[in-house]
Amino acid sequence: MTAPAEDEAEDARNTRPEQAPKRRALAALIAARERTALLTSCVDDGELVAQHSPLMSPLVWDLAHIGNQEEQWLWRAVGGREALRPEIDSLYDAFEHPRATRPSLPLLAPAEARAYAADVRGRIVDLLDQAPVEESGPLVESAFAFGMIAQHEQQHDETMLITHQLRKGPVALTAPPPPVASGSCPLEREVLVPGGPFTMGTSDEPWALDNERPAHTRMVAPFFIDTVPVTNGAYLSFMADGGYHDERWWHPEGWAQIRRHGIEAPLFWRHESGDRWLRRRFGATGPVAEDEPVLHVSWYEADAYARWAGRRLPTEAEWEKAARHDPATGRSRRYPWGDTDPGPGHANLAQRHLGPAPAGSYPEGSSPLGVRQLIGDVWEWTASDFLAYPGFRAFPYKEYSEVFFGPGHKVLRGGSFAVDPVACRGTFRNWDLPVRRQIFSGFRTARDAEIA
Ligand code: AVJ
Ligand code: FE
Repeated sequence: MTAPAEDEAEDARNTRPEQAPKRRALAALIAARERTALLTSCVDDGELVAQHSPLMSPLVWDLAHIGNQEEQWLWRAVGGREALRPEIDSLYDAFEHPRATRPSLPLLAPAEARAYAADVRGRIVDLLDQAPVEESGPLVESAFAFGMIAQHEQQHDETMLITHQLRKGPVALTAPPPPVASGSCPLEREVLVPGGPFTMGTSDEPWALDNERPAHTRMVAPFFIDTVPVTNGAYLSFMADGGYHDERWWHPEGWAQIRRHGIEAPLFWRHESGDRWLRRRFGATGPVAEDEPVLHVSWYEADAYARWAGRRLPTEAEWEKAARHDPATGRSRRYPWGDTDPGPGHANLAQRHLGPAPAGSYPEGSSPLGVRQLIGDVWEWTASDFLAYPGFRAFPYKEYSEVFFGPGHKVLRGGSFAVDPVACRGTFRNWDLPVRRQIFSGFRTARDAEIA
């Protein structure tokens, strides 16, 4: 057989419908690696090995950890192959070494880390080509493990972007501003979500992670939810009203934190004069834009603002009902706008822009009830602790979700401008400690609807 005929035979095989999960997995792995390459090539080696904040790993740790997880889950667990670098597993085990201690470990140097991640990836591309994704167990079915690893890399890419935000020094990353929403009429302040049952979580989204499963029915009482995330302008009113100095609004632990650290504004803000504030974003300083969703607030700050406003944070179930429930059919959608994957007109995702879009943007991404910007822009704090759904089973490892379940972590929903679509769905759950504010976090508020 000649080479062109072989190519044709291969093309024919690869475009069969049962190959779709493989094509999707390959595309997702490639996209993740392009982003990783950008985030680890826009600064020099000194910056890659430096620790820019005790909250974060050196960027070079994330890079090799990405390769090591891919080796462990795809090369070893799926492929059944011999370990390539078993001696480095413990260096890149997130549970063995807290972030603050990682710079003192004998980590792979930048060139070595890059070569290691590239070596693993080359092998995985071949493995994916041969993997029997139609049957052979939950790890391989629908190319789940490959999708999980692409999501893992994208999650670390967001983590690395947070490190870039914390880094002092000149601008290393740039992106165009989000598009301006054209011809939008004034929005209602809030939207009524009717009470009743809805389907929360999923059992049939192939790459949904363990904590999103299984689908189950939740009863939700009627409630109102903000049409858009809380803006800097609204948050400035809370500040101007002495919000940071009035204990009434604060959870006791939040009050203790802001007093201990002298917190008086969102992270990365600096007071200029009067009611004028500046914010630093990826090395550039500019005015706080009143129409943008507030960013870099802790759960405690979100909770205090909501109480000051006479409102509260939505529960996780309320957030998901607002995002997914279609009152016309009673069905839960994959996304607010429907079941199609996010496109650039639906939401501010994928680090296309290096900040949130003005409140009211992305009308195409509205939910059936008219709630906007649920997906993308800023992660939204919810009132809820990170807990297992009824029928939860840890898969494929307890350390992804299960060890974090409990009252210590609060759930964030919807994804930020730094989240890739592969790691973003109406069911996707993120979590963090309530004191955290270096993450791309904002919020919206809700209130009970009086039952007539
Ligand atoms: C889901 C974002 C909380 O970064 O700690 C990365 C994702 N898990 N590697 C994290 C994750 C393992 C996780 N979050
Ligand atoms: Fe990880």
